[in-house]
Amino acid sequence: MYLKEELERRGVPALLKFEDGREVTADNWEERRLELVDILSREEYGYMPDEKFKVSAAEAAKPARDCAGKAVTERLTLTVSGSKGDFSFPLLICTPAKKPGSKCPLVLLINFRPDFPDKYLPAEEIIDRGVGVAMIYYNDIALDKNEWESGIAGIYPRPEYSWSKITMWAWAASRCMDYFETRNDIDFERIGVAGHSRLGKTALWCGANDTRFKYVFANNSGCSGDAITRCKRGETVEIIYRAFPFWFVPKYNEYAGREQDMPFDQHFVVAASAPRVVVCGAAEEDIWADPESQYLSCCAASQAWELLGEKGLIGVDRYPEPGDIFTKGKLGFFMRPHAHYFSRYDWNRYLDRLLI
Ligand code: GCU
Repeated sequence: MYLKEELERRGVPALLKFEDGREVTADNWEERRLELVDILSREEYGYMPDEKFKVSAAEAAKPARDCAGKAVTERLTLTVSGSKGDFSFPLLICTPAKKPGSKCPLVLLINFRPDFPDKYLPAEEIIDRGVGVAMIYYNDIALDKNEWESGIAGIYPRPEYSWSKITMWAWAASRCMDYFETRNDIDFERIGVAGHSRLGKTALWCGANDTRFKYVFANNSGCSGDAITRCKRGETVEIIYRAFPFWFVPKYNEYAGREQDMPFDQHFVVAASAPRVVVCGAAEEDIWADPESQYLSCCAASQAWELLGEKGLIGVDRYPEPGDIFTKGKLGFFMRPHAHYFSRYDWNRYLDRLLI
C-alpha cells in the first residue's frame, strides 16, 4: 500500500475488515462492498428509496445532427414512475453518427448547467474520440438548496425518506441507466458516470450504489468525495456541513471536529465501486479539495482491487506532483496543473481510461 505510514498516522479505518471484525476476503468482497454502501448511507449520504422504478422516455425535440454532422443529439424527457407518483426530468444524449447496429461507449455527466455544450462538457472532442455523452442538469432533479419541496425531494420527502441531495442526484443517474438499458446502440460494458466537485462526490456515490456503471469519473471531488477526511487540509466536515447541510444526512454533522470518531473515511466510497474502474482527478491548486488527501484515499482504496487480483492504483509512494497521471490500473488518479475546474485535460484522462 502506498503512503502506508501516512495512512496509519491519520488513523484511517481498515477497509478489509467487516464491522463485526471478520476479515474481508476475495470471496466475501461483495458482502463487504454492500456493507460499505450501507455505512455511507447511514452516516453520510442517506438511503435511496427502496423500490423498483419504471422509466419511460419521450422526445422533447426532434433528434438533431450536431458537431458538423458527426453526432446526433437527442433531447428527451425521462419519466420515472414509482409508488409515490411520476417524476420527469430532461435527459440529453449526444452519440457519434454511426452505422446502424453499432454500439458506442457512453459517459453520463451530472452537470451544473443545462447548457449543451457546456464549459464542462466539450461534446465535439468527446464525439471525436468515438464516445457518446449524456447529460442531466442536477437542479432538474432537486434544487441545490436547503429546501425539500422541489423535484424528487417533494415526492419522496425527508424525513420520511432518509436521503440527501447528493443521493437524489445519484439516484437520477441510475434512472438514466434504466433507460440506457432499453437502447441497443450503447455498449453496456462501457458506460461511465462523471461529475465535477459536488457532482464528483455524486458520481462516486452513484458508482457505489449502481454496479451497472462500469466507469466512475470523479473530478476534483475533494471533501466528502475522494479525499481522506482525517487531517485533511482545506474543507472539513464542520465547514461543508455548515454550508451544505442538505448534501448529507444530519448524522454526518456529528463528526464535525470529531473526524477521528468516524467509523469510515472516504476511501470507502472509492472502494465501493471495486473492481470496476474508478478514476479520481485532482488539481494542483485545489487546496480546498486537498490533492494529497485525494491521493491518499486512492492509496487506501486500492487494497480492494488488489484483494480481488486486479490492478488497483499503479502510482508512486509519495504525494503526487502536477502532471502525474496514474491511470493504468482499474483505480486511477491524476493531478492536473492549475485550479479547480472540469477541463478538457481532465476529460481526456477519463476517456483515455475508458478507451484502453
Ligand atoms: C464548494 C464546496 C465543495 C464543492 C464545491 C463545488 O466549494 O465547499 O465541497 O466541491 O463547492 O461543488 O463546486
